Amino acid sequence: MVDLAKFVRDIPDYPKPGILFRDITPMLADPAALKAAAEAMAAPFVDMKIDVVAAAEARGFIFAAPVAIQLGAGFVPIRKPGKLPFDLHSFAYELEYGSDELQVHVDGVKAGQRVLIIDDLLATGGTVEACCRLLEKCDAEIVGCSFLIHLAKLGGQERLSPYKCHSVLTYDQDDLESEL
Ligand code: PRP
Ligand code: MG
Repeated sequence: MVDLAKFVRDIPDYPKPGILFRDITPMLADPAALKAAAEAMAAPFVDMKIDVVAAAEARGFIFAAPVAIQLGAGFVPIRKPGKLPFDLHSFAYELEYGSDELQVHVDGVKAGQRVLIIDDLLATGGTVEACCRLLEKCDAEIVGCSFLIHLAKLGGQERLSPYKCHSVLTYDQDDLESEL
């Protein structure tokens, strides 16, 4: 059994002073750890008849494709503006400073399809909440959300509370020590 926590490298004061960045690149570079991480993210959803795994760029994509393959599901990308070529649903959302926008193809997920949302990290929940709003516009059935890392003090799980959330590693830490 792989101890995944050992493959998360803590980087203090990145990207700014007071922030402790959880760097997953050592996990991605290790064949057994990468496989174990994707398996652990998929595990609660193997019998849940997932049709499609959806994820937002960039880091969400890393895990979404291997999880989709394990679940026998397809993969649907959710992207920043200007990246997807066909007709779109868009959702703009507020960040601490400024705003951001995510988009999905209108036919990326068909009405009634069962969707699992994947991301590497659940912090404030803003990114995955935006994904949920987009998939709701597609009339998808959101079965749940699965994360590699959950920063538990930032309120993300509460923000996503209507949906089943699963995370592989949880860090209980104060806001100022968390990556945002
Ligand atoms: C990071 C991370 C999550 C999000 C979590 O993405 O990959 O998607 O932040 O934070 P939240 O729960 O507060 O939304 P980021 O937007 O930094 O970009 P990246 O995935 O392109 O690296
Ligand atoms: Mg991201």
